[in-house]
Amino acid sequence: MTASSKVVVARTLPRAGLALLDERFEVDAGDLAIDRDGLRERVAGAAAIVADPTVPVDDDLLTAAGPALQVVANFAVGYDNVDLDACRSAGVTVTNTPDVLTNATAELTVALMLAAARRLSEGDALVRSGRWTGWEPEQLLGTELSGACVGIVGLGRIGSRVAELLRGFSCDIRYWGRARKPELETSLEAKYRDLGDLEGEADFLTLHLPLNSETHHLIDSTALAHLRKGAILINTSRGGLVDTSALVQALASGRLAAAGLDVYENEPDVADELLRLKNVVLAPHVGSATRRTRDAMARLAAENVIAVLTGGRPPSPVVLASG
Ligand code: GLV
Repeated sequence: MTASSKVVVARTLPRAGLALLDERFEVDAGDLAIDRDGLRERVAGAAAIVADPTVPVDDDLLTAAGPALQVVANFAVGYDNVDLDACRSAGVTVTNTPDVLTNATAELTVALMLAAARRLSEGDALVRSGRWTGWEPEQLLGTELSGACVGIVGLGRIGSRVAELLRGFSCDIRYWGRARKPELETSLEAKYRDLGDLEGEADFLTLHLPLNSETHHLIDSTALAHLRKGAILINTSRGGLVDTSALVQALASGRLAAAGLDVYENEPDVADELLRLKNVVLAPHVGSATRRTRDAMARLAAENVIAVLTGGRPPSPVVLASG
């Protein structure tokens, strides 16, 4: 093994990607535990690190890796766990896994919309409790997605796919994003709104933005106060987009009818107040968790590593080291 052929998988990677790396490099794959000191030791001399959303890649880890490091391949589309500036300064390429997870994540978004609107968690808990006494005319009444006004915050790949999937529900699709997308306004029949207007109009508000300093707590108490009474909030992006305390208040007061969440501010910790609320459907960060998608993500992460370590252009760069 030469120093430049060492690939460290910080935690684990599905076989579909690991096999591609194993064929070419000396691979040190970890396990699900997050052992920071152990990771610091393992990355010493690595040419590539495969990270995931639970693995902070910061100056400290880059320094522990040392000058052989060429690429950080994130096994995720989001890369808020990676300090991009530190990677740029260290001359390290950063890659992610876009596109291959778009459909799976959009499907989970629609699943959460339906689950929150039709109160599936409450119904599931009732049946399991043994206290369900049978059909009732007004039990667990919810709302319908069909014909609803859906506000998409961020009409990127996943937000656009959500709009496509909702076609069969004849929703009134409106969106806000940093830039207007006239071509999508036509193809998806999506109407652009300022964020404040979107918040006031949407029956369902669904978040599809990356987490960064501009989007942190984008949905705070002010934004939640703009939402229509009885609106439903869906978040399959990153927990930090929403101020959890403000969300808890909005759900507890009934201002929001419900929420469907796949992501949380301090994963894997979930605020006790959220756990106690009935009108929130909680998923354990599984937006991309289908066999097909996780295998495709693993292959793409591996292809990114292979490209960089063999002198090529990675298929999905976030930061391209100039050197
Ligand atoms: C998962 O959260 C991802 O960003 O892919």
